[in-house]
Amino acid sequence: MVAVAARTPLIAGNWKMNLDHLQAVALVQKLDWTLKDAGHESGSVEVAVFPPFTDLRSVQTLLDADKIAFALGAQDLSTHDSGAYTGEVSGAFLKKLGATYVIIGHSERREYHDETDDVIAAKVQAALKHGLVPVICVGETLEQLEEFGASAVPVGQLKAALQDVPADADIVVAYEPVWAIGTGKVATPEQAQDVCAALRAVIADELGAEAAERTRILYGGSVKSGNIATYMREPDVDGALVGGASLLADEFAAIIRYQKHVGV
Ligand code: PGA
Repeated sequence: MVAVAARTPLIAGNWKMNLDHLQAVALVQKLDWTLKDAGHESGSVEVAVFPPFTDLRSVQTLLDADKIAFALGAQDLSTHDSGAYTGEVSGAFLKKLGATYVIIGHSERREYHDETDDVIAAKVQAALKHGLVPVICVGETLEQLEEFGASAVPVGQLKAALQDVPADADIVVAYEPVWAIGTGKVATPEQAQDVCAALRAVIADELGAEAAERTRILYGGSVKSGNIATYMREPDVDGALVGGASLLADEFAAIIRYQKHVGV
């Protein structure tokens, strides 16, 4: 293995279709105050928020004005750069708004918008083309878990998403078992570790050892302040993609401060 600096943990809040731009600004302000009040040192953990498209501008303006060190991300992007694609949003526009990240292949997009592995691979290419870091989501349904075990489906999805990705690309991978999203059911830390290790092996195969060592792999699915530390102890889990709990400032702040409230 090539020696590289330790991976900075990433705690990412996927707001999904929640909060208008005024509510979004209020949440980011409250989250910032809560962390500052608690004496949280930014830098030990990277924090990223993924608001709906309509909130991005307002959130970005607040982050800038108040010098809040949260990264900004979008929840999706178009495979196209511009043109007659009604309702789509280009990666170029997201980049211009100050977005660093973009979620790609979330199970809700795979399920409700019929996004295939090919569409997801094209979106990964679009993100990289516009200088955005794709947060590539993979995960198995309950039926797939029962039929194939935990790793097979996420491994296949990640291989497909990494087609044509260069070895030096900056990417993030999120393992989100579909059966754990918004259900209160969670993978055990050992299950999350096993799949995250398998995903790191895919990155090593596809992009090389240095990329595998450097790339952050998140766990997602009903992450809360009460369980985050157990995942973060696992060697191949580098952070979390948090849905419901990221909408509550106190709860999300406690997740970000996982090192403080439960010793890791
Ligand atoms: P959840 O969602 O934390 O509400 O389970 C996670 C996600 O879908 O990213």
